[in-house]
Amino acid sequence: MAHTQKKVRKAVFPVGGLGTRFLPATKAQPKEMLPVVDKPLIQYAVEEAQAAGIEEFIFVTGRGKTAIEDHFDISFELKDQLASRGKDEANAAMETWLPGPGQVSFTRQQRPLGLGHAVWCARALVGNEPFAVVLADDLMLSDVAPLKQMVEAYEHTGGNLLAVERVPRALSSRYGILDVAEQHGNLVRARGIVEKPKPEAAPSDLAVIGRYILVPEVFDVLSHQGQGAGGEIQLTDALQAMMRNHPLHGILCDGTRYDCGDKAGFVLANVAFALRRNDIHDDLRARLRHIVDN
Ligand code: UTP
Repeated sequence: MAHTQKKVRKAVFPVGGLGTRFLPATKAQPKEMLPVVDKPLIQYAVEEAQAAGIEEFIFVTGRGKTAIEDHFDISFELKDQLASRGKDEANAAMETWLPGPGQVSFTRQQRPLGLGHAVWCARALVGNEPFAVVLADDLMLSDVAPLKQMVEAYEHTGGNLLAVERVPRALSSRYGILDVAEQHGNLVRARGIVEKPKPEAAPSDLAVIGRYILVPEVFDVLSHQGQGAGGEIQLTDALQAMMRNHPLHGILCDGTRYDCGDKAGFVLANVAFALRRNDIHDDLRARLRHIVDN
């Protein structure tokens, strides 16, 4: 089993959601372009995928998302302007993280029918190999990229592998929750998964967060799947339907997740990431103390 998995080379970034919780900020710009300190959420997601050895980056976009395409392109005007002002360092820093020519592709989810539908829209670009799905609004602060931890675990698990974290049961109706068969260290084998259960119906406190490695058979299942919780085409429903033929595992990755689709989570992410930055750490810390104490 351990050596039969294909390498995970492709990652899908579903960025077709409306971002209604962040209106009016998301009226004319995608949620995924909101910056944490000075970098858009989607760039953190792509850098995490790069750290995990991903070679192809597939964005499933929607209306009003063109800023994301521009962000992953070279801006010649800006390059020239920076060069003429002698800002060589800033110029170089703009490109070190850019995937190379042909490594980025975009497809369109014309209507935001749910995460399962967004993933299904990438089927032709993914083809017949296991692939990662990364939700940029779940921002991870960690020493080792969580997706890298997952790619390494996937060599042993195969099947469908999801990042999970423990959440208070009262919050289970916000998440997909695993039904746990057994746990070994940070790896959990699931016997099922339920989308947004009420706290009393939640089979565990292990909630799925925005990182997945999936087998391509998920596309066939999604093709025939109807609406689930909230009237959306749910990825978790497809994973439940696949359980008989494909093992489902959860992994508790090392690191802290910030839910940047939520206002408090987004503000906290800014503070946490800023405090890790040598250039602003000292000043910020002193001023935050002042705000909290007064
Ligand atoms: P959310 O549930 O956070 O939805 O999607 P949203 O529309 O982005 O935000 P709110 O709830 O209206 O504020 C989780 C992730 O799935 C993507 C989103 O872009 C986000 O990264 N998604 C969701 C899609 O790509 N398409 C969809 O149809 C739904």
